[in-house]
Amino acid sequence: MIDKMKGEVMLENKEIIDTIDFNGEAPADETKRQYYYMKKAAEYVEQESKKAGRKLTYFVQNFGCQMNARDAEKLAGILEKIGYEEAFDEMADFVIYNTCTVRENANLKVYGRLGYLSGVKKKNPHMRIGLCGCMMQEPEVVEKLKKSYRHVDLIFGTHNVFKLAELLVTMFQSERMVIDIWKDTDKIVEDLPTERKYQFKSGINIMFGCNNFCSYCIVPYVRGRERSRHPKDIIREIERLVADGVVEVMLLGQNVNSYGKTLEEPMTFAQLLQEIEKIEGLKRIRFMTSHPKDLSDELIKVMANSKKICKHLHLPLQSGSSRVLKEMNRVYDKEKYLELAMKIREAIPDISLTTDIIIGFPGETEEDFQDTLDVVRKVQYENAFTFIYSKRTGTPAAAMENQVPEDVTKDRFDRLLKEVQGIARKKSMIFEDTVQEVLVEEVNEQDAELVTGRMSNNLLVHFKGGKELIGTLQKVHLKECKGFYYIGELV
Ligand code: 5AD
Ligand code: SF4
Repeated sequence: MIDKMKGEVMLENKEIIDTIDFNGEAPADETKRQYYYMKKAAEYVEQESKKAGRKLTYFVQNFGCQMNARDAEKLAGILEKIGYEEAFDEMADFVIYNTCTVRENANLKVYGRLGYLSGVKKKNPHMRIGLCGCMMQEPEVVEKLKKSYRHVDLIFGTHNVFKLAELLVTMFQSERMVIDIWKDTDKIVEDLPTERKYQFKSGINIMFGCNNFCSYCIVPYVRGRERSRHPKDIIREIERLVADGVVEVMLLGQNVNSYGKTLEEPMTFAQLLQEIEKIEGLKRIRFMTSHPKDLSDELIKVMANSKKICKHLHLPLQSGSSRVLKEMNRVYDKEKYLELAMKIREAIPDISLTTDIIIGFPGETEEDFQDTLDVVRKVQYENAFTFIYSKRTGTPAAAMENQVPEDVTKDRFDRLLKEVQGIARKKSMIFEDTVQEVLVEEVNEQDAELVTGRMSNNLLVHFKGGKELIGTLQKVHLKECKGFYYIGELV
């Protein structure tokens, strides 16, 4: 490894880097091009470091979903490569917010923190601020930032995360705010560095974007059209991760059940799972998110027969009312959803089913809400994420009449939460006094004598143990259920 401070990029992707002429023009091949820019950016970081008389630091703040969490690891990977050191708060020299815009609240949080950063920046002449992620794909947001948040140095979107090094070079050369937003892309850039948050588990993008256009959702507008990665690229990435200590992967996509449809040689998600299952050394496979309309019998069969796929399926319901589901453009109705959920429970009896539910979609009546409660009672979810409908400009639902008054929504939300929590608590308890295999994830934050492990069905258990257990699978006796988690003991 070459010292990063000498302005060199580390050479772990040697076969790619050896072919790059760093003194010539930037290569056309995107992966090579980005390594070329990583070296250039490293030179700037080194110069700036010299001026500061210390190493420069970075801080990536992630908002939103698992997709964003994986993108944040890609950003961190590039920043580490070019010589920044990780910091754990906004006192860093390069602060980047990887934003979310799925609900209005997420946007408000970012504006609030940007206000605070303005004061921090005045005290640190080396500080630079970057913004990326879903919120940046909205033109009104970028306009507002240009006008009222002049202290931001770099803005890019969801389609060009891979381009961070090149954008940083532009930023270092420029006095002005650098903005690079792509409307859409069919590009998937492989083999760039990542800096994993956990040594033993990792998210893997298997596809990008979404074609479903649920009427309330902004994701298809900010993440673009659906495109799948080649299975061989996915397998190669997982094999490398396993060689580097990963035992659990989370396959990521907005709608994993439609994986492979855009490939030259189409492949189903179930087939991909079977290929991944063959990877030696990999112990657990998770995935997220499944759209009920595309969930196949083939997938249920593969899950039922698999030794590695975790006993957990996240199956967003959104609403239990067939009328509302139609307005939402979800393509299934109450009966179809219930049929599917029951089929899954029958085929995989120990599965944990979780869901997302939106309350207060335009026009939702008490009767519609009762349908949602009915599905919740019938499916008996192990856990449910409940959201208050948030109006997203540009989506069809935002233009719908009959927006539900806030007090009505709030009242339904509270009633729903009570119901799902009651069921979840009851469902969690059934494992009391059994022995379960868990993957140990971390030392407990409140009590350093305890570690926290995750069961296949996603439930957590805390038990006595040391940090040497992190990343290992252990058998644990679940002694006491504490609502949504367990206290256990190693067997
Ligand atoms: N308002 C509230 N919740 C939303 N979701 C997506 N869009 C909205 C919105 N406009 C929820 C859905 C989705 C989850 C990730 O976020 O339930 O499954
Ligand atoms: Fe949004 Fe629907 Fe796509 Fe999920 S499937 S990201 S809810 S449009």
